[in-house]
Amino acid sequence: MKVIVCNTYDELSMEAAKIMAATIKEKPDGVLGLATGSTPIGMYDNLIEMYKKGELDFGNIKTFNLDEYYPLSADNDQSYHYFMNKQLFSQINVKEENIHILDGLAENPEKECEDFEKLIDENGGIDIQVLGIGQNGHIGFNEPDEKLYANTHLTDLTENTIKANSRFFEKESDVPTKALTMGMGTILKSKKIIILANGKAKHKVVSELVQPMITTNNPATFLNAHADVTLICDKEAFEG
Ligand code: GLP
Repeated sequence: MKVIVCNTYDELSMEAAKIMAATIKEKPDGVLGLATGSTPIGMYDNLIEMYKKGELDFGNIKTFNLDEYYPLSADNDQSYHYFMNKQLFSQINVKEENIHILDGLAENPEKECEDFEKLIDENGGIDIQVLGIGQNGHIGFNEPDEKLYANTHLTDLTENTIKANSRFFEKESDVPTKALTMGMGTILKSKKIIILANGKAKHKVVSELVQPMITTNNPATFLNAHADVTLICDKEAFEG
């Protein structure tokens, strides 16, 4: 795993945006795997800036998002659909039909997950996947457990995640207890992966991630089995 340690969040956001931009320029009809959470917001801001300056074109880019709460409608302001529209899609020229986010109200979640998985393959696979990391090491919503799932699936959120994500909701009881998420295999099939981590709260899981080992107690460590992963973090996440 390549590691880039930055002094500030702004620097981290620029490093991540540069890698994304290089991929988009190299393959203007490529497939981006995108993430939510607070960490990638700065990177999205930089990409929007580059687009506005005419440096980037998203006209033929396809996107697949990692996860979505379940059950939650796309127009709910806590949904990841809503987040992505607000933070990125509404400000660039990506085509509506090229945006793929799991349907948080899918009547048949199993079929929704299967179709999503197929669609990624039909589009030639993900060229670059952006990841954040949960305080417990989750990527997407692949939570620490005895078993991890390979494919896109419906999952229960852990107490830790519900608590950590409650900051975006009015009260903790409003946080959905389930989510649809790409599986570990879906993520690991991506050709290139960048994982972003910012702040002291991520230090424990980041220090495990940079060890040459894999454990289901910290799902992000599975990235150590991938040939092209870059961790971009700030000093606090790296050093504690
Ligand atoms: C959520 C998302 C993850 C994200 C995590 C970290 O749980 N499902 O994909 O990585 O939040 O969020 P933050 O970047 O706000 O710490």
